[in-house]
Amino acid sequence: MKRPERIAKPILFILLALPIAALVYGVFTEALGANPIERILHETGEWGLRLLVATLAVTPLRQWTGWNWLIRIRRLLGLYAFFYVTMHFTTYLWLDQSFDWPAIIADIIDRPYISVGFAALCVLAPLAITSTDGMVRWLGGRRWRLLHRGAYIATILACLHFIWLVKADLAEPLIYATLTAVLLLARIPRRRAATVS
Ligand code: HEM
Repeated sequence: MKRPERIAKPILFILLALPIAALVYGVFTEALGANPIERILHETGEWGLRLLVATLAVTPLRQWTGWNWLIRIRRLLGLYAFFYVTMHFTTYLWLDQSFDWPAIIADIIDRPYISVGFAALCVLAPLAITSTDGMVRWLGGRRWRLLHRGAYIATILACLHFIWLVKADLAEPLIYATLTAVLLLARIPRRRAATVS
């Protein structure tokens, strides 16, 4: 098969639309349980984080497997991550806080897990905006790559957000944090080799 990404991309595009489609369906059929807002917040937040981690996994996976085509699905994963995080934030602003701006600003300032989540979103937004081929050309490859290392920071902040908000069972956020740490550490030997040679 010459270009596996030609098959992988549309399949992934459809699969990653399913969680949001399920939520929308759940809203209309009232199937989201006793607290639908909480459910939407949690689902969109988790998908945002899963996809951030998946985006970070592309480069190490590509190196371990030699499947260079994986790089061509990275943008799709990153943009879907941003989409779910945007839905998460919109749910918070609209359904959770009813656009009560003074309360929202106070929340962002006073509650550390909200501050950190907001910081993650602020780091992610320029990455999504500069994800087009035109933007890569405009910024130049080196500057673009430097800017897009922001994905590392955003994922670390998102893990902190999750760790901070969990009251009892830290197992799930720590799984994401460990995966993120492994995926970031996996990049170190390559960078070292690049500086030595
Ligand atoms: C990169 C950005 C972000 C990611 C990846 C993210 C991810 C998550 C995750 C994984 C959860 C927990 C879901 C669960 O318990 O199953 C969560 C919960 C939550 N997030 Fe975020 N989040 C982000 C940004 C934000 C922002 C910007 C806000 C609001 C300003 C926010 C507000 C919340 C709230 C209110 C909850 C629910 C807390 C609770 O259950 O008490 N998040 N988020």
